[in-house]
Amino acid sequence: MLNVLVTGGAGYIGSHTCVELINNGYNVISVDNYSNSAPQVIDRIKKITGKDMKSYCCDIRNKKDLEKIFSDNKIDVVIHFAGLKSVGESCKKPLLYFDNNIFGTIVLCEVMQKFNVKKLVFSSSATVYGDESLPPYVESMPTGKVTNPYGRTKYIVEEMLKDVFSSDNGWSITLLRYFNPVGAHESGLIGEDPKGIPNNLMPYVSQVAIGKLSKLTVFGGNYNTPDGTCIRDYIHVVDLARGHIKAIEKTMQNQGINIYNLGTSRGYSVLELIKAFEKATGKRISYETGSPREGDIAVVYANTDKAFCELGFKAQFDINKMCEDAWHWQSKNPTGYVIN
Ligand code: NAD
Ligand code: WQD
Repeated sequence: MLNVLVTGGAGYIGSHTCVELINNGYNVISVDNYSNSAPQVIDRIKKITGKDMKSYCCDIRNKKDLEKIFSDNKIDVVIHFAGLKSVGESCKKPLLYFDNNIFGTIVLCEVMQKFNVKKLVFSSSATVYGDESLPPYVESMPTGKVTNPYGRTKYIVEEMLKDVFSSDNGWSITLLRYFNPVGAHESGLIGEDPKGIPNNLMPYVSQVAIGKLSKLTVFGGNYNTPDGTCIRDYIHVVDLARGHIKAIEKTMQNQGINIYNLGTSRGYSVLELIKAFEKATGKRISYETGSPREGDIAVVYANTDKAFCELGFKAQFDINKMCEDAWHWQSKNPTGYVIN
């Protein structure tokens, strides 16, 4: 049985990936400092899978603690989710983002190198494409013209990992560029639990539906799109999690550095997403149109051919299921993991 170390295993995407890993026969070891999650998540993962997993409360920047985890466990491969992800916060606190996302990855790679663990799957983002090219985004397109410090951390880590591979071809590294993960596990036991007012569309819509927020502001109604609102490639988080199983299989077989988009290749506008949510849940979403949000790109969606051809990955769930499961999680856990 392969031992997979999952950094950020209690986070939104990490927790769903732990479930899929365990269900696929992997032994999972989570490392999380719970800065944007809660230890209760681990119990929920155990409840869903009916299996045990190891978890450590540890900041990946703490080399000594991380080394102890590597010496106590025989790690075969690492999936690296741990990082900060708020675009707005990254503009206010860029050094925090560079420290956590870039330095954190450096420490992780140093420890991996020391313990001769050279198989890594990294959570990157469609944000690395910036607004340089037109969608659909293909992995070979130029990257780096990013619009915020968060995006810059993803770009820099991608470049750093390419250099790590160039210096030592014994590494096998897979960079996954996620588009817009939404939804939740169908059990309603795990899901996205943003602290404070959500930055992202789906959790915002869910909180309007439950009455925590009064109305959604649609950021901009005059984009060059059919209904004037921005288009994104939303992907169900369970599909995304399953993409990681495919990525692990590839990473274990190959040496090299491989990059894959994980999306559906289908874009939905903000207004289409609101309509889909209303249809899937029977809830009315009040909204008003406001100014565009700085840094937003009109249309973002993936070309998913490479992930399909090389990984055999194709997203299964449609927008209806994404909305249904996001609502199921929100309505079962109105205050998230922490009960008020
Ligand atoms: P999340 O915040 O829910 O999960 C990240 C987890 O990492 C959290 O549990 C947090 O406590 C932990 N963490 C953060 N810094 C840490 C550190 N220094 N040491 C140990 N643990 C730490 O975010 P998510 O949505 O699950 O995203 C996971 C990864 O995917 C992130 O790297 C994010 O940048 C990337 N990503 C997310 C999206 C998205 O829309 N959610 C899109 C593209 C890429
Ligand atoms: C989606 C659409 C908004 C909130 C972000 C990061 C990206 C990646 C995924 C990590 C946009 C509109 C939103 C609201 C709105 N994360 N919107 N009202 O911006 O595509 O991507 O998450 O890597 O890097 O930037 O996602 O969910 O914030 O926005 O109208 O209150 O919804 O303008 O068009 P985004 P989002």
